[in-house]
Amino acid sequence: MISLHRSICVALLLGFITARGGSVTKVGSICTVHASPDHSDDAPAILQAFDLCGKDASVVFDPTTFHIESVMNTTGLRNVEVDLPGTLLWGTNITYWCNASLPLGYQNQSTAWVFGGDNITFQGHGTGTFDGNGQLWYDFTNGVSNLAGRPISLMITNTTKSRFSGVRFVQSQFWTMAIINSEDVLLDGIYVNSTSSSKAPARNTDGVDTFYSNRITFRNWTITGGDDNISLKANSTNILIQDSVFNGGLGVAIGSIGQYLGVYERIENVTAERVLCLGTRYAGYIKTWTGVQQNFPPNGGGGGLGYAKNITFRDFTLVNVTNQAAQITQCTTFSGATGACDTSLFQISDITWGPMTGSLTSGTLASLKCSGAAPCSGLRFVDFDQITTSGSRAIACSHVQNPIGFNCT
Ligand SMILES: *[C@@H]1O[C@H](CO)[C@@H](O)[C@H](O)[C@H]1NC(C)=O
Ligand SMILES: *[C@@H]1O[C@H](CO)[C@@H](O)[C@H](O)[C@H]1NC(C)=O
Ligand SMILES: *[C@@H]1O[C@H](CO)[C@@H](O)[C@H](O)[C@H]1NC(C)=O
Ligand SMILES: *[C@@H]1O[C@H](CO)[C@@H](O)[C@H](O)[C@H]1NC(C)=O
Ligand SMILES: *[C@@H]1O[C@H](CO)[C@@H](O)[C@H](O)[C@H]1NC(C)=O
Ligand SMILES: *[C@@H]1O[C@H](CO)[C@@H](O)[C@H](O)[C@H]1NC(C)=O
Ligand SMILES: *[C@@H]1O[C@H](CO)[C@@H](O)[C@H](O)[C@H]1NC(C)=O
Ligand SMILES: *[C@@H]1O[C@H](CO)[C@@H](O)[C@H](O)[C@H]1NC(C)=O
Ligand SMILES: *[C@@H]1O[C@H](CO)[C@@H](O)[C@H](O)[C@H]1NC(C)=O
Ligand SMILES: *[C@@H]1O[C@H](CO)[C@@H](O)[C@H](O)[C@H]1NC(C)=O
Ligand SMILES: *[C@@H]1O[C@H](CO)[C@@H](O)[C@H](O)[C@H]1NC(C)=O
Ligand SMILES: *[C@@H]1O[C@H](CO)[C@@H](O)[C@H](O)[C@H]1NC(C)=O
Repeated sequence: MISLHRSICVALLLGFITARGGSVTKVGSICTVHASPDHSDDAPAILQAFDLCGKDASVVFDPTTFHIESVMNTTGLRNVEVDLPGTLLWGTNITYWCNASLPLGYQNQSTAWVFGGDNITFQGHGTGTFDGNGQLWYDFTNGVSNLAGRPISLMITNTTKSRFSGVRFVQSQFWTMAIINSEDVLLDGIYVNSTSSSKAPARNTDGVDTFYSNRITFRNWTITGGDDNISLKANSTNILIQDSVFNGGLGVAIGSIGQYLGVYERIENVTAERVLCLGTRYAGYIKTWTGVQQNFPPNGGGGGLGYAKNITFRDFTLVNVTNQAAQITQCTTFSGATGACDTSLFQISDITWGPMTGSLTSGTLASLKCSGAAPCSGLRFVDFDQITTSGSRAIACSHVQNPIGFNCT
């Protein structure tokens, strides 16, 4: 009786707010989210916490597992600290997620959680975990590319002067993160691991993709996945990638870009440095669609315009990188289609690879296949001599003008 009485008093004093599933207590400017005892959907309680404490306040999750069975949209936050010591576990209702996931606004992709605002600190303490229950998605999609509605774990949008630290993402449903329309965001100490335990590949499990974003820093990431580790897409500028480890995956990708007919996009001022590539396919690579549109995004397209310039991949250490240290292709096209590799008008220039050390398991150091309609210029290798390969150290080129620090073979 006494304890019941006391808990009612505490509830009244603190303003105990219950939602379906979990609940929220608000003390001063701190909202604490409690998980539902019966493992039902905690998303409504989380939304309520951001509603009550979305400005000049803190949202603190109990150190436990929360079940997320519905989409979340928490945008327009201001001066907020988010503290996640435990786990957010996404539900398994594929029918629901494919229909309800929220649009990214690009490439027909969508997400489970739209998040954003100004001056946000999202702290995961190295334990806070997003678990996308991805195995279910890897098996369900079974290698099909960009299945409609398959959700990005977290979409950071319209976000400024914010920081995400010590957050873990395991078994992401699709791309782990997309950052769009954002500026001055630091993501530091981020662990990503999407690994399939079945024959189905963890396809499309990019670590993070950026769009329309400026001054974004990725520092101290550990990424394990089955696709691009980090992919910088339309209008990504002043991007810094540092002190990171990639286990498998494709490396740092610039693009793909040029997917939308007649649309002008750019990627400019990118530095990736001190990256350890363990068995990735490439170290740093650039991919554009052809100049000929075939079908529509996400799996088709082409004919886009624009440029990628001033991009540096330096101080990389390669361990058994499988294909090439440096790669360019302007030949991306609708699956099944071929050719038109000389048609892209998307202009690539001022790209530096190196210094790099370590090993390639292939014999080819680089493959730089630029478009005849827009030859590449200012491609530079710095200190590539120490990279070991299993063969002739070929550097295959098409339409590379005035290479610096290397000769095409
Ligand atoms: C940013 O938010 C923090 C609280 O999370 C606050 O202490 C700080 O004053 C805010 N900064 C600005 C410039 O408003
Ligand atoms: C899964 O989601 C669909 C669509 O929202 C819904 O109709 C169905 O009842 C859900 N299934 C379960 C097991 O909850
Ligand atoms: C699909 O989602 C829409 C809104 O997002 C909802 O109104 C509709 O009921 C959902 N359909 C199914 C089959 O779940
Ligand atoms: C998220 O909510 C905001 C505010 O209500 C709205 O403007 C925005 O369109 C929503 N985003 C998505 C992807 O649904
Ligand atoms: C972006 O966020 C700012 C405040 O942080 C808000 O004023 C603006 O309306 C938002 N823009 C969009 C497109 O949501
Ligand atoms: C785009 O996504 C919608 C909703 O998920 C889907 O119905 C449609 O088929 C997709 N379009 C393409 C071209 O994939
Ligand atoms: C990198 O991030 C991990 C995970 O958050 C953290 O434990 C480690 O201390 C960070 N290392 C550095 C040098 O900041
Ligand atoms: C990634 O997760 C798998 C299991 O899902 C584990 O075997 C592997 O060690 C993890 N990799 C890293 C780098 O933590
Ligand atoms: C992308 O950048 C280009 C070049 O600055 C600009 O013309 C275009 O409007 C930008 N696109 C969007 C959607 O902001
Ligand atoms: C190239 O980008 C780097 C940042 O990645 C910047 O420091 C440098 O000034 C840029 N150089 C030019 C010529 O724009
Ligand atoms: C790239 O960096 C240079 C040098 O700092 C700067 O002048 C230029 O405006 C930057 N480009 C973009 C798109 O921010
Ligand atoms: C790299 O590959 C070689 C040859 O297959 C193998 O002996 C070595 O153990 C591999 N190194 C690592 C770190 O996996």
